[in-house]
Amino acid sequence: MAPSDWSTERALQYYNIAQWGAGFFSVNEKGHVIVHPMGQPGPVIDLMDVVEDIRERKIGFPCVVRFQDVLRARVKQINEAFAKAIAEMTYGARYFGVYPIKVNQLREVVEEILDAGAPYHHGLEAGSKGELLVVLGMNSDPEALTICNGYKDEEYLRLALLGRKLGRKVIVVIEKLSELPLLLRIAEEMGVEPMIGLRSKLTTRGTGKWEGSSGDFAKFGLTVPELIHAVRILKERKKEHCAKLLHFHVGSQLTEIRVVKDAVNEGARVYAKLRKMGLGIEYLDVGGGLGVDYIGTPSAQSGTVNYTMDEYVGDVVYNVQRVCMNEGVPEPHLVSESGRAITAHHSCTIMNVFGHIEIGSAEEIAAASVPQPNEPKVVREMRDIVQGMTPRNRAEAYHDATAKKEEALQMFKLGILGLEERAVVESLFWKLARGIADLNRGKKRLPRETRDLGDKIADQYMANFSLFQSAPDHWAFDQLFPIVPLHRMNEVPTKDCTIVDITCDSDGKIDRFIENDGVDGVDETLSLHALSEGEPYYLAMFMTGAYQDIMGDMHNLFGRVNEIHVFVDDEDPEDFYIEEVIPGDPVEKVLSRVQYEPAELFRRVKQALDQKVKEGAIRPKEGVGLGDFYEAVMKGYTYLSGP
Ligand SMILES: Cc1ncc(COP(=O)(O)O)c(C=O)c1O
Repeated sequence: MAPSDWSTERALQYYNIAQWGAGFFSVNEKGHVIVHPMGQPGPVIDLMDVVEDIRERKIGFPCVVRFQDVLRARVKQINEAFAKAIAEMTYGARYFGVYPIKVNQLREVVEEILDAGAPYHHGLEAGSKGELLVVLGMNSDPEALTICNGYKDEEYLRLALLGRKLGRKVIVVIEKLSELPLLLRIAEEMGVEPMIGLRSKLTTRGTGKWEGSSGDFAKFGLTVPELIHAVRILKERKKEHCAKLLHFHVGSQLTEIRVVKDAVNEGARVYAKLRKMGLGIEYLDVGGGLGVDYIGTPSAQSGTVNYTMDEYVGDVVYNVQRVCMNEGVPEPHLVSESGRAITAHHSCTIMNVFGHIEIGSAEEIAAASVPQPNEPKVVREMRDIVQGMTPRNRAEAYHDATAKKEEALQMFKLGILGLEERAVVESLFWKLARGIADLNRGKKRLPRETRDLGDKIADQYMANFSLFQSAPDHWAFDQLFPIVPLHRMNEVPTKDCTIVDITCDSDGKIDRFIENDGVDGVDETLSLHALSEGEPYYLAMFMTGAYQDIMGDMHNLFGRVNEIHVFVDDEDPEDFYIEEVIPGDPVEKVLSRVQYEPAELFRRVKQALDQKVKEGAIRPKEGVGLGDFYEAVMKGYTYLSGP
């Protein structure tokens, strides 16, 4: 693309920022990515100012940046979307959202959601004993719900009932039938009235990467015969009035609105029938599943969603209302357990690019392009192929060059071609490949063999992060996350790149990206800027706020990432402040987790150093310095230190 065709507006469109950014991200005239933490119009934060602050404070990259205002905005957005739909459709009950803390359990995230959700009585959901301990400590609003999901033992049930003793609306969702008699027994022992939820295993199946959460063979929930059995148990014990909620969950990140409608219809029918059987159900909980648009195009392809939050909310309210009217039952309060939709946008991971791997560098190609006297025949022939390549014969030239490269390899193995000559053959081959990739760029109908040549020879940008720690869903599910340079957006990006992380794992790479210009698809490369010697280059991976932080692992002993929490400055809408810095794991912490005692490791290394000093191989002062250095690395960050 010609520099004259480029602008920051063009960059905004090229990286599809306005679309996946949901109004929270944009580009300013300096060519920097900016954040509108409260939506647009509103206060603005320049992400390069945040980078500067991180550098000044010597915090170190990679660094997770949380925009707590974005979190607050999303909580407000979902509650107001439900309130609006309920008012417009004169729906006869209310919405009580709950945040499933498994999506991101960080205390500051949960606190912010509760604080922003307080006017709406937004509650919490727990899926384990550990999470319930958190939730009981955090959710003290007697109007807000606490939903207890997941398999439960006696301890879990007692904990939930402890919440009832505190006067909280703690609902125990029965995931398997045997939990029901156990709950009733313990409740009686504790002298407390339980609030019971029943999870229905819907036949409607989700679509997308998490579709296994639903359908007849799903892990959780009661089948229809089991629901009937549960009604019988409740009636026998005269506890029908304790059944307060019907729950279902057909999968996270539902890609198609059709599935949402189907699931809500099926779930609402089950609710109506159970009501008619005499259960006192007041809440219908539609679970999670409200998706976010990681790509920026409203399509179910590439794992993104074909609907908006408003459409989702409208469909939930409308379909429940329609079924209730049809069945002649009261409209229940609506509950959703939306986690991803609330948290995904609020955090990003900033990383520095510290180098690149280039196949056939310009220098090597230039050197190989100058013919030398007495070159072996195979080199001369490769040179002829490269020189003779034209747009018309490029596929043929590629075939010939591939064969010639192979011939050179065989000759090398037989000892009749030297290493230098082999290097010339290979550099000429890459020269040809680059030439063909240039000819192919932007063209649609391409010879089959050369179609993905551009992707194969793309530069690999080395970024200071671990994919397994910061974006495990990309590795596990091919989930795409928007990745964008944070600066230089006023320059044309000229390099087609893939990104490699710093783990020693060949899976630690990103070679699937959102296609430029919002075309509905996936690209094997990302357009980035050429690296300039001595100038840092920063990228951010966006929309990592849901699941990624908490599910990341310690592959290669790269630990948790440094983290800052950024707020808009109330006094100055162009400024921000860092409210909190949470240091990432130091190496010693990660080592302790795999059972190494850092002090013992230090003692061993120190002993070896002392021995060398004794032998006179190392001077005493140097020995002390090396020991101090070992200890300092142990206390330092697990990632590369850098700009
Ligand atoms: C029972 C339950 N509720 C809620 C959620 C959160 O879903 P989401 O993040 O799609 O909102 C999940 C996640 O899979 C879940 O299993």
